[in-house]
Amino acid sequence: MKKHIYKAKQPDDKGYIKYTDEENAIWGELYKRQMPIVEGRACQAFLDGLDILGLNEHRIPQCKEVSERLQKLTGWSVAPVEALISFEEFYGLLANKVFPAASFIRIPEHIDYLPEPDIFHEVFGHCPALTDPDFANFTQAFGKIGLKADPKDRARLARLYWYTAEFGLMDGPQGTRVYGAGILSSKAETIYALESELPERRAFNMLEALRMPYRYDIMQTLYFVINDFRTLYEMVEQDLLTLLEDAKALGNLERDLTEPEELIDLRTC
Ligand SMILES: [Fe+2]
Repeated sequence: MKKHIYKAKQPDDKGYIKYTDEENAIWGELYKRQMPIVEGRACQAFLDGLDILGLNEHRIPQCKEVSERLQKLTGWSVAPVEALISFEEFYGLLANKVFPAASFIRIPEHIDYLPEPDIFHEVFGHCPALTDPDFANFTQAFGKIGLKADPKDRARLARLYWYTAEFGLMDGPQGTRVYGAGILSSKAETIYALESELPERRAFNMLEALRMPYRYDIMQTLYFVINDFRTLYEMVEQDLLTLLEDAKALGNLERDLTEPEELIDLRTC
């Protein structure tokens, strides 16, 4: 598919974005289809967060409404942004407990897969976990470290976000569950990440994650598994800047990033 065919939707002076009936219908289709998929596969904090945010199938939620619910719990808010923002802006917003959200929604032809984040990914995928205090603290701490880091190291640091907030798995009393938004906003990847024999699931190691290149445009072939959000937050607070230096000194880990053929077929299921 062509990239960047989407344009950000602009909010009015009251912060509301007007979506068409067709756009609301796409949201409804995605929502109705994904709810039974995440049940039993997403971690409990995400499922609880979905309830708290009160999303529904009828229309695309407004960032303002989601912010009001998040504010009460963890002090976070969601702000519509242009599709592409700089690392500096990204880390700065997270450090200030603002989640930057793309405001457009995918077109029907891209219902199963698009490599850019849309509002379904941002709000359905990311926002439920931000109701959890430990996950919210982790995200803010990550943003603060991103601002402190040398600008040259910010892309490497973003790998940590990739392997956690976007594509993280978590072990728990009910087995392995998903908390990463990149997985939870995709029907195919939510099933594949837990049930396929293809991807590797490896215990989370922050240094390894910082050294591990990735492809943004395919279903992942490696997932890191954390134990819980509290431990993740503590690790970031204690060690992240030091480990970022170590990762830079050690360099990237070798990794074959070719897309396995089996994955190309899975994309459209
Ligand atoms: Fe994302």
